[in-house]
Amino acid sequence: MTRRLALLLPAALAMLAGLDGALLLLGLPAPVSTSRLADSHGMLLVLGFVGTVIALERAVALRRPAGFLAPACLGLGAILVLSPAPGRIGGSLLLAGTLALIGVYIPLWRRQREDAVLIQVLGAVLAAGGALLWLGGVGMPQVLPWLTAFVVLTIAGERLELARVALIGSGAGRWMTGLSVVVLVAVVASLLWPPLGFGLLGAALLAMVAWLWVHDVARRTVSGTGLPRFIAACLLAGYAWLAVAGGIWLLVASPGEGAAYDAVIHAVFLGFTISMIMAHAPVILPAVLRVRLPYHPVMIAPAVLLHVSLLVRLGLGDARGSELARQVGGVGNIVALLAFAVITVVLIARSRSAAPSAVARPALEAVS
Ligand code: HEM
Repeated sequence: MTRRLALLLPAALAMLAGLDGALLLLGLPAPVSTSRLADSHGMLLVLGFVGTVIALERAVALRRPAGFLAPACLGLGAILVLSPAPGRIGGSLLLAGTLALIGVYIPLWRRQREDAVLIQVLGAVLAAGGALLWLGGVGMPQVLPWLTAFVVLTIAGERLELARVALIGSGAGRWMTGLSVVVLVAVVASLLWPPLGFGLLGAALLAMVAWLWVHDVARRTVSGTGLPRFIAACLLAGYAWLAVAGGIWLLVASPGEGAAYDAVIHAVFLGFTISMIMAHAPVILPAVLRVRLPYHPVMIAPAVLLHVSLLVRLGLGDARGSELARQVGGVGNIVALLAFAVITVVLIARSRSAAPSAVARPALEAVS
């Protein structure tokens, strides 16, 4: 556990630094006020935080020491991006981490030649493309589709994997793979012919949401109780935000700044991605860290705060042009993320003191 925790710590640091940068971007006072944190907010949170967590989870699934190179490079890259070292060094390590993640998927693909793995491979390839562009000095508005596709395809592949038993023989897996290829084409096109590429990306994301709505077990399990219900509610709320992002890209094409830019980014990365992380944390963290994280209804509070504050930020702030609502909603987003992290740590600590010898059994199936 200690080694895996050591790999997770840079991700936690990247999250805290990214949130500090978020306060600065909102024009609010922050604990640390160097412009480096605001400038690198996006990369710190997407590859430094989310990327490291994804890579660590995949490395655990691989069960080979070499797999841990990917989260190690991503975490170290994030720390270097934060440090006064030249940006190219941190950026190169982030790129190395995404390439190592592709390397993790090769044996996973040999072990399990299924659509779900192929989709995640495409996601990792796009992450590497995004890291390379960022390293080459391309602006975040152009890098954004690559990072979005990384996160969306990784999660779509995981959801397909969990739904596969119910889908055998239905051809639904092929449809998701087809949509993932369209996402890949759209991302490349967004660089060359932005209006066409961003529009296609928006349409592909909307089609993916439709697929998830029809095939994901979440629609059934949301009427259950306890953890399955919590997971399903977070998933469905996340899918709704992904549809918002798809709609913005379809209608506004390529917002590079302003309200639509803020809205599309955070519909994807807060509404969809962080909601997915909240949903999967009670299942993934025990498998990754070999700890117990018993579900507690208090987890609902930060999840609700996340979605309500995002509604305030996008609905009143971005759509209606209220700077105050954007700031209030943004601070609510930050509090939601921090509160979920604190609750997670407290629940793990409490369960360790209650049953010091208990080691959690990896229970990925429970996500379904
Ligand atoms: C938790 C609360 C968060 C707040 C308050 C926040 C705030 C902001 C603000 C104000 C901007 C500038 C938007 C603009 O230029 O119009 C921004 C940009 C961005 N944010 Fe966030 N953010 C948060 C979380 C996240 C998360 C969790 C991620 C990714 C996982 C993320 C990824 C990005 C990216 C990629 C950009 C674009 C950066 C750029 O253009 O250089 N944000 N954020």
